[in-house]
Amino acid sequence: MTDILTHQEAGVLTLTLHRVERKNSLSTAMYAALADALNAAASDAAVRVAVIQGHETVFCAGNDIEDFLRQPPAGPDAPVFRFLRAIATFPKPLVAAVCGPAVGIGATLLLHCDLVYAGDNAAFSLPFVNLGLCPEAGSTLLLPQRIGAHRAAQLMLLGEPFTAQDALEMGLVNRVVPPAECNALAQAQAARLASKPLSSLLATKQLLKGEQQAAVLRRMEEEGALFSRMLHEPAAKEAMTAFMEKRAPDFSKC
Ligand code: COA
Repeated sequence: MTDILTHQEAGVLTLTLHRVERKNSLSTAMYAALADALNAAASDAAVRVAVIQGHETVFCAGNDIEDFLRQPPAGPDAPVFRFLRAIATFPKPLVAAVCGPAVGIGATLLLHCDLVYAGDNAAFSLPFVNLGLCPEAGSTLLLPQRIGAHRAAQLMLLGEPFTAQDALEMGLVNRVVPPAECNALAQAQAARLASKPLSSLLATKQLLKGEQQAAVLRRMEEEGALFSRMLHEPAAKEAMTAFMEKRAPDFSKC
């Protein structure tokens, strides 16, 4: 599909979010394409490493809000949840390059990437509460583990945005570089990984994840059930309608 570009070369599968006019927000079709590509790559001997990247001005503005209003995910096999399970269980190294806005799932998906490189223009936010929703992607488990409970609450309950430098200091990204260099750096690191023995990469990633993976999948299920229910409730409907109508939401009745 044209909103997700796939390129495979020398053992590296690159998935490029390519919907810049909509700030690379993810539609149902894009989730399905990403899930299918990752699942196929997991068992394709020709793929040793995967890279997820966006444009140097924008990584991903989260779920396509209009699409979510029109066709909310129906059950655990909805493409968004298939995508989340695919990145959480991807057995090979996963590298991300993030420039510009990385919002909602555009930020939480990074918690599943092994190496994350950020442009100095990266602008992260987890605005789930502000949208009348709850976080997803196992992020309610992974984020406090990575950065501590208080900082996670600041980012998730208050929905405070954070910069590339903040993300570096919190250990959420590996390196910050000028945006024009970010995708190239991710590609170079992916090429280094692809030259290493795949069996060692697979074993090491499996050990790094350890028993955590089952806990993450369980948490993703819990989050997904709540998230799907909340999407139909008044607060989310008001927040998403307000975004589409370019006005501030009114939560006085929610
Ligand atoms: N879903 C659907 N459309 C989106 C979108 C999203 N998540 N994010 C951006 N767009 C659309 C905008 O509606 C706008 O459409 P228009 O040209 O028809 O007016 C277009 O993409 C450009 O976005 P705009 O907001 O004008 O760009 P910006 O540079 O001023 O701001 C963001 C970029 C990412 C900060 C801002 O678009 C944003 O906050 N998006 C929503 C993020 C969000 O809440 N995601 C979580 C969803 S669960």
